[in-house]
Amino acid sequence: MKTLFINIEKLLQVEESSAKWVAGSAMAVLSIINDAYLLINDNLIEDFGSMNDLPDFSDEQSLIEIDVTGRIILPTFCDSHTHLVYAGSREIEYVDKIKGLSYEEIAQRGGGILNSAQQLEKATEQELFDGALDRISEIISFGTGAVEIKSGYGLTTESELKMLRVISSLKKEVPIEIKSTFLGAHAVPHEFKNRPLDYVNLIIDEMIPRVAEEGLADFIDVFCDKGFFTVEDTDRILNQAVKFNLQPKIHANELDYSGGVQVGVKYNALSVDHLEYIGDAEIESLLNSETMPTILPGAAFFLNMPYSPVRDMINAGLPIALASDFNPGSSPSGNMKFIMSLGCINYKMTPEEVINATTKNTAYAMGIHKTHGSISKGKVANLIVTTQIPGYEYLPYAYTSNLIEKVMINGNFID
Ligand code: NIG
Ligand code: FE
Repeated sequence: MKTLFINIEKLLQVEESSAKWVAGSAMAVLSIINDAYLLINDNLIEDFGSMNDLPDFSDEQSLIEIDVTGRIILPTFCDSHTHLVYAGSREIEYVDKIKGLSYEEIAQRGGGILNSAQQLEKATEQELFDGALDRISEIISFGTGAVEIKSGYGLTTESELKMLRVISSLKKEVPIEIKSTFLGAHAVPHEFKNRPLDYVNLIIDEMIPRVAEEGLADFIDVFCDKGFFTVEDTDRILNQAVKFNLQPKIHANELDYSGGVQVGVKYNALSVDHLEYIGDAEIESLLNSETMPTILPGAAFFLNMPYSPVRDMINAGLPIALASDFNPGSSPSGNMKFIMSLGCINYKMTPEEVINATTKNTAYAMGIHKTHGSISKGKVANLIVTTQIPGYEYLPYAYTSNLIEKVMINGNFID
């Protein structure tokens, strides 16, 4: 079946041949066709162009024509960093934070990630699956067409495998692309408090081989930061991961200049994420890498953390990706349109830059840039059709309005 969109006010993120990412000053440029058509064949993008050059499709059998006068079409968001499989919410910690406790203080009191681990231990796979499915349905309605999901609330071999099995089941159930990441090194569990190296060894000797044997993860992650895992721990974990073909995506430099960026780059991480603490050494290291610097504006906003020096990074020529970090502790939202607004407001990124950062660059950061992230012939037909809005700048500007009329995933509209 074919779908033909006609009279598209603006078709955004058009690419003749797909580049792996957008970096530096090029991030300020969006490739746009005004007054465009777009032809979808089954689940793929077949053709696009200006309405002035609209081919004669009158012979096509079963072609559905949709007039989208006044609407903008752009690729769906790729959300390359989430923890959306979890049991229970953490609004009580939210209140503690309002009353003045820091993220680290809450973690030290056994809250934070360890609180989620306790709740997850008691949850069945079915309960975890149902909760995550609701969250995925919600983010699809917000325009997300691909998502990475991490484990990391298990912290025992069995519970980590349980989380990853839930993610595998979700991959089969939902229409959007899911990538799974093993994050056993998210926090040191209570029982290892006084012997953290034993937990690192457990990850290396038991968890990584089991996860790889069962084919449950696409990537591996380590929270390499002050009070969590050291550069040495991270180096040992990644050294083992590489042997099992697990490419890293690292939580780095959220709480300090942790060395997480450099160790991520050393192991050819696909992305390093958070990056509140970034100086010249980190920028230099990233410039000589294939690693996508990924900012999580929702977490920095929710936790009142310092904002990453994104303008310095872009001026240095780096690409930037923006992801949601959807999780119950530091970012209880997977709304990527709001993430774009935060990118503009708090990081002084332009609307063009935040659109590049949430589509093309996040597609790279989750290893799907050949099939997702732009409007390109042969790529998956994952589209956002906006409501009638004055221009694409209106999307991050009107920060609480959804402005999404329809979402198409694999060539089908989602209800
Ligand atoms: O990305 N920083 C580490 N991990 C998560 C927080 C998870 C939590 O608090 O539950 C993050 O923000
Ligand atoms: Fe995270």
